[in-house]
Amino acid sequence: MIEFSSVTKRFPDGTVAVDALDLTLATGELTVLVGPSGCGKTTSLRMINRLDEASAGTIAIDGVDIRQHPVTELRRGIGYVMQHSGLFPHRTIGDNIATVPRLLGWDKKRVAARVDELIETVGLERDMAKRYPHQLSGGQQQRVGVARALAADPPIMLMDEPFAAVDPIVRKRLQDEFLALQARLGKTIVFVTHDIDEAIRLGDRIAVFGEGGRLAQFATPNELLAAPKSDFVVDFLGAEPQLKRLSLLPVSAAATIEAPLIATGATAAEATSAADTAATDWVLVVDGERRILGWHRVADYAADTARAPESFDAVVGAGDTLRAALGALVISPLGVVARVDADGRFGGLLAQSSLHRALS
Ligand SMILES: Nc1ncnc2c1ncn2[C@@H]1O[C@H](COP(=O)(O)OP(=O)(O)OP(=O)(O)O)[C@@H](O)[C@H]1O
Ligand SMILES: [Mg+2]
Repeated sequence: MIEFSSVTKRFPDGTVAVDALDLTLATGELTVLVGPSGCGKTTSLRMINRLDEASAGTIAIDGVDIRQHPVTELRRGIGYVMQHSGLFPHRTIGDNIATVPRLLGWDKKRVAARVDELIETVGLERDMAKRYPHQLSGGQQQRVGVARALAADPPIMLMDEPFAAVDPIVRKRLQDEFLALQARLGKTIVFVTHDIDEAIRLGDRIAVFGEGGRLAQFATPNELLAAPKSDFVVDFLGAEPQLKRLSLLPVSAAATIEAPLIATGATAAEATSAADTAATDWVLVVDGERRILGWHRVADYAADTARAPESFDAVVGAGDTLRAALGALVISPLGVVARVDADGRFGGLLAQSSLHRALS
């Protein structure tokens, strides 16, 4: 873990960038630092790899003060993605990515193989290795920055607004790729962003910094949204915190309600009984594989059991979020959403009460 104990950074002109910071970042977790511009996020990162030295307090990694070892040794274990990518402009993309492996004295073959592998990992084309940074878009440069930081497979990654230069759609894709990568690599990551939605999506924990480099709150995304500690944090979290919480919870987190199910060809009495048990005036029809065929009002079905069912589209997969479930709920004519498995088989009904209970 990375442990800040009463860390203060005062620059020579008197600016206090970080003020008495106590923060413990767990190994293998992704901790996000968020907060308004100038609140000390970059400075906090730069103190971890000693590009800035703390003026007071200590930073320890796995219990060892970072000043105990030579700075080169410290940095070998830390990948750093700089704000605005920070690539060497006169070196090719390949040479940029190869920087640390070469410093470590890897042989040529191993370096070349690693460069190829990383270009692929961050979703760029292999022939881009020969280009120079100015021949790439801002978002592509940021990916190269990520590849360069990953090159020697360091256990710790410091990432300063790595996806800031890309549009929201590409950013969402990069975030997805990054989450998948992190699930595989399990690195200790300190990730800076301005974007609270990005923080909520990516972070295992979020440290919200306030003006003057003070920590306003440190919590999991769900805790932060459920119980913000101050008006400052509330403002920073922005509109619709409950919707944001729903987007963090999987459909599987919500309890299902009694479902009035009938099979094709059920009798009117069977339909009435299923509806009575679930306290509804409608039934869902499923086939032999429990796939939803549609729904009937019980009264209509009783009058004509041969009628075709109404279509039912309010369906979510087990891997969807409760926010998707809410989206399906508002267009559902029955006020319920059906959860289905990967093969489309019925797995339970959710109502507004299910979402309410999941949040409370
Ligand atoms: N070398 C320096 N000398 C004096 N003040 C500095 C120096 N570097 C940073 N600062 C000041 O320290 C404060 C924190 O800066 P820092 O770069 O850590 O902010 P940040 O949270 O990363 O902001 P942003 O979101 O804009 O990147 C700011 O007020 C900044 O002006
Ligand atoms: Mg910054």
